[in-house]
Amino acid sequence: MPPSPRAPIDTTLIANTEAGFAHAGVWPVSVSGVLLPAGSFAVLFEVDTRDADRKDLQTLARSLLGFGTLDEMAQWLGLPAYPGDGSVLLPSGVSAGEPMGLAAVTTEHGPALSVSYFPLLTPTMDQSLTDASQADMVLYERAQANLSAVGAGIPEAHGLDTSLARVGLSVARRTPDAWATRDAQWEGSRRPSALDDLVAESKPAVWWTLRYKTAWLADGSIVSGNPIFTNVLWNELGRGTDLRELETWLGENGHVVDELTVAVFNTSAPRWRQVLPDYPIDQAASCAGCHGEYDKGWSEGFYGEEALTTVAVRYAAQTAPVDVGTDPQRAAGMSDFAEALNALVLSQAINMVVTVQAGYVPPPLDGIWAWFPYLHNGSFPTLCALLSPVEERPARFVVGPPDDPATDFDEACVGIPAVPPEAWLAEPRNGVDASIAGLANGGHETVVSGGDRGHVIEYLKTL
Ligand code: HEC
Repeated sequence: MPPSPRAPIDTTLIANTEAGFAHAGVWPVSVSGVLLPAGSFAVLFEVDTRDADRKDLQTLARSLLGFGTLDEMAQWLGLPAYPGDGSVLLPSGVSAGEPMGLAAVTTEHGPALSVSYFPLLTPTMDQSLTDASQADMVLYERAQANLSAVGAGIPEAHGLDTSLARVGLSVARRTPDAWATRDAQWEGSRRPSALDDLVAESKPAVWWTLRYKTAWLADGSIVSGNPIFTNVLWNELGRGTDLRELETWLGENGHVVDELTVAVFNTSAPRWRQVLPDYPIDQAASCAGCHGEYDKGWSEGFYGEEALTTVAVRYAAQTAPVDVGTDPQRAAGMSDFAEALNALVLSQAINMVVTVQAGYVPPPLDGIWAWFPYLHNGSFPTLCALLSPVEERPARFVVGPPDDPATDFDEACVGIPAVPPEAWLAEPRNGVDASIAGLANGGHETVVSGGDRGHVIEYLKTL
């Protein structure tokens, strides 16, 4: 549709959004705690190497960490590759096929890799083995020192994000003061945490629903403040970053956070590409009370593709969590360190407030077809499973990176295919088992009976 003359294109908005996307692909915080020298780390974890020493080290890494090369690391972390079909904007310096979330950063010590989902990797690197330069060694040593302030966990299932536990356990390794000051004593022996027992994991949030919300995270516990700023602060807490260094960085780079925020709030949901069947689609009215109302083009008398367009979304003015009986561990996990986060100088500077909640925010269903497996803990492989009675939900299923739409996606039920591709079976961590704490698949018993289920799912595909 050509832009109307009364709505001129906002070039500043476009420029800020593009700048924000560029920051997102290349983690912008150059004082970040865990940065690995791009050159020598890549050499060590190179895919094809004939160097026997390096191969031995990769085998050792494989047995200790679960991966031996950068590609394996990306797979193990569940980082999808940037697609080559233009559907996702490539950050500068990143090529199609490279993993998302493994970002390149320019630091005063040279190019570095910043790992968004940092596992238990302590690089005791041998300089001769990796050809590391002096500057590289500075980065390694810095990363290694900062890692002692990082408490990390390994996800219970492929694709789940352990960042809540990482922030909580990292806070428990710092002095309980307003700067969460780094302290060797706490680093050596951290305070006990409820997160030692809780599995407070959740699937990574998508950007495109953030703009509908007034409380953020799966449990809606961030009730005030800019969620993007909060994300930067928490990420850095989880990377062992000195918060005074971060404050200085923020003082000089406030525009970076602003541009990121503009980008996130201007992201749209991906659209289902296939033409959908031509029969009347159930409006899923019973869901609207919790999940919002979606005005469709067909109600406005449009035809074809335009009929499928969502012309308006009406989501609750205040985003309140609802307890529908789904696994409580993730929400409970927040209670352990909410107060410590609220007390930080940097939280108060932006009026960031965390309030512990029971239950989870019913997410806007915009683009929900692309956000499988379902629920905050990814415990339902498909929309069919989510809308089925408890006893019909699969107790176990296998997840993996959805690389090939033909074999890795169930179009009818929307989500993880019931028969997993061979490649997924090779990795034991790909199994999702509802009997594991934190991965329970009860609750949300908004059952849609067999005949109507297909129609509700066809409707959800159009959102
Ligand atoms: C009483 C409120 C309520 C009603 C009614 C309700 N839901 Fe939900 N729904 C929720 C909550 C809360 C969650 C998040 C639960 C969680 O993540 O643990 C949720 C999650 C979902 C999700 C998963 C989202 C994701 O992040 O993976 C889908 C899909 C969904 N609901 C669809 C529906 C549909 C379709 C209906 C109507 C047939 C419906 N819901 C009715 C409260 C509700």
